[in-house]
Amino acid sequence: MSTSRQVVVRPATPADAEAMAALRAAVAAEGRWIGAESPVDEAAAAVAIRTAIAEGKGVFVADGDGVLAGTAHTYISTAGVTTFGMMVAAGHRGRGIGAALLDRVVAWAREQGAHKVTLQVWPHNEPAIALYRRTGFEVEGRLRRHYRRRDGELWDAVLMALHLDEETHTSFTTARSSC
Ligand SMILES: CC(C)(COP(=O)(O)OP(=O)(O)OC[C@H]1O[C@@H](n2cnc3c(N)ncnc32)[C@H](O)[C@@H]1OP(=O)(O)O)[C@@H](O)C(=O)NCCC(=O)NCCS
Repeated sequence: MSTSRQVVVRPATPADAEAMAALRAAVAAEGRWIGAESPVDEAAAAVAIRTAIAEGKGVFVADGDGVLAGTAHTYISTAGVTTFGMMVAAGHRGRGIGAALLDRVVAWAREQGAHKVTLQVWPHNEPAIALYRRTGFEVEGRLRRHYRRRDGELWDAVLMALHLDEETHTSFTTARSSC
């Protein structure tokens, strides 16, 4: 477990699935932060969460003031690379919960032996981009007009990454340039 400013981050259990799905639905209903759009099928989301937990993916929750206030889902997307998504309930933002969850996401990646952590974020999501930059993530690219929203709009996504093992990254670059 990790704590930050009285926030407790812990691995999710199957018993958390409904509350996690409800949080996902609530954040989706805000309409501008996450990929999921309203209405979220909460029953299907809860099943997917239980499956992710059973598969050993990094599924974490933050308890704030005795309620489930935030979640993070992280998984190995390609060898040595983890990808994640996270959210904090609107009424609990700005209290360090996002930072505590992100610390756990990065710790999980290290535990998996990953050399890199990646994510995608909407370009207008300034709070999230600030959080990621503060933790050392850098912009690696942009997917232009990539995601079609239900209203037909095409949104860009910013690709960000944190390199956990710059030494390996550097030696790979050196080895490749010497070929
Ligand atoms: C992005 C999000 C997870 C941040 O969580 P949070 O608990 O509010 O963040 P914290 O209180 O831990 O703040 C950590 C840092 O994030 C940044 N940050 C948070 N809110 C911010 C805001 N409104 N404006 C600018 N920066 C902000 C700051 O760098 C902050 O560090 P500081 O307190 O030293 O200034 C939260 O806003 C959220 O869940 N948003 C909706 C869902 C979402 O966008 N998920 C990410 C999708 S990619």
